[in-house]
Amino acid sequence: MSEYAGERIAKVIARAGVCSRREAERLIEEARVKLNGRTLTSAAVNVTAGDEIRIDGKLLPRKDEARLWRYHKPAGLVVSHRDPQGRPTVFDKLGEQLPRVVSVGRLDINTEGLLLLTNDGGLARFLELPATGWIRRYRVRAYGKVDDAALSRIAKGVEIDGLSYGPVEARIDQAKGDNVWLTVAIREGKNREVKKLCEHLGLAVNRLIRVGFGPFVLGELPRGGVDEVPPKIFREQLGPKFRESHADRRR
Ligand code: URA
Repeated sequence: MSEYAGERIAKVIARAGVCSRREAERLIEEARVKLNGRTLTSAAVNVTAGDEIRIDGKLLPRKDEARLWRYHKPAGLVVSHRDPQGRPTVFDKLGEQLPRVVSVGRLDINTEGLLLLTNDGGLARFLELPATGWIRRYRVRAYGKVDDAALSRIAKGVEIDGLSYGPVEARIDQAKGDNVWLTVAIREGKNREVKKLCEHLGLAVNRLIRVGFGPFVLGELPRGGVDEVPPKIFREQLGPKFRESHADRRR
């Protein structure tokens, strides 16, 4: 153990995919974390690879390789580890199939499609970072009428209820009865962003499917299906910034 070398213990615990950094700090405050056999009382401690960390007596998994999965989320599941209203969560469904994972951002309960999952909190944050600006692509079915002129009103970004939304690429794929199918691509992923943009155009979304997130696509993944993206592939896809930030993990 050292005061200066290594990294803050809560960050290391979060990166192992056990919980968030803040939750790790809480576990330390609750005296549930042992470092090299001694119970910690403060999170202001740095650790290195040789240190042994236990939470409630259980050894923290070694810095295993960051892993990433594509999951085809069905409608009706909440993206949360615990739902106060007791609704089924994606993590209940996936519990047996995967190690402990976190989601990369969230989808609303009735949104379907691509949800990325990872055992690595740092990777999740990297993918969510607004600065990385990955394109999130959606197929949208909405009730109402819209034309290209209306879509061009939101193309350069728009302010709705005092919140500013970035540029939106949207196109009409098909008009079917009272509904229209659109493809909408956004870069930020603000809360209920696609629904709000559509409402702004007088449309009511009744089906929302995410089909792409950055370089990852839903493709033919069946509903409820989960598929690992090999680490070598996603490291290449995420580029040098990610590889630099995770360089220590490949030793
Ligand atoms: N936009 C929404 O309105 N909902 C989602 O779940 C994702 C994007």
